[in-house]
Amino acid sequence: MSVHHPAKSITLKRLQAMKSQAEKIACLTAYDASFAAVLDATGVDVILVGDSLGMVIQGRESTVSVTMDDMIYHSQCVTSAVRHAFVIADMPFMTYTSVQQALDNATDLIQLGGVQMVKLEASVRQASIVQELSECGIPVCAHLGLRPQYIHKLGGYSMQGNDQKSSDDLLRSAESLQAAGADMLLLECIPETLARRITSSSSIPVIGIGAGQDCDGQILVLHDVLGITRGITPKFAKNFLADTHDIPSAIRAYVDAVKSCSFPLKP
Ligand code: KIV
Repeated sequence: MSVHHPAKSITLKRLQAMKSQAEKIACLTAYDASFAAVLDATGVDVILVGDSLGMVIQGRESTVSVTMDDMIYHSQCVTSAVRHAFVIADMPFMTYTSVQQALDNATDLIQLGGVQMVKLEASVRQASIVQELSECGIPVCAHLGLRPQYIHKLGGYSMQGNDQKSSDDLLRSAESLQAAGADMLLLECIPETLARRITSSSSIPVIGIGAGQDCDGQILVLHDVLGITRGITPKFAKNFLADTHDIPSAIRAYVDAVKSCSFPLKP
């Protein structure tokens, strides 16, 4: 099966230039064509087809049940509607445990899903996988800090990197994954000072979620931005629909807030 995906105007090169020029990168998740088209038209730079779809689309308690078939399907829905934004897809739980498995699954997300980058939850341990993907021409975003696929090990979604050892481990992971060829880092739920340190010492764009204001860009889950998350909304999230009349205005308000550094606010 061959699928034609037209060229997008936001490229990795453009995201790198945004970092160099200190222009904040506005990112959001999307899982279907209708929302992806709204995000694309309202100036979102990066759309993540997140495995958070396990929770916000499928109603599960975590992301661990999400499969490659789910990710390919939702990536196809999103990329069929996007003309401008850079699109990333998550590699689901246990789909990158070896170099060959990671190569096969990342290839499917790029070729069948039509995305431009894959994201995997990483530490130093995944450096060889990142290196192989990168050398084969697959851009990689390494997701560090709170890694939701580790929920059964962690026992809850809590702040990471707030003691000396885990902070040092995160710094080491960020360095080694970048050296291995990662093209982007995503930092979830880590202290602002640590996120600032990683961002200033990285030459690649660093996107934060619950990691303070000083990352090169911000990401949130779309359903949190629209105030329709079931259960507990993360403390760092904000409902942008509360102060506007419609969904496009809420998304535009989020993009403006990220670009002007008024979201997230300094603690
Ligand atoms: O799956 C997802 O939506 C994510 C974001 C929380 C960054 O990884």
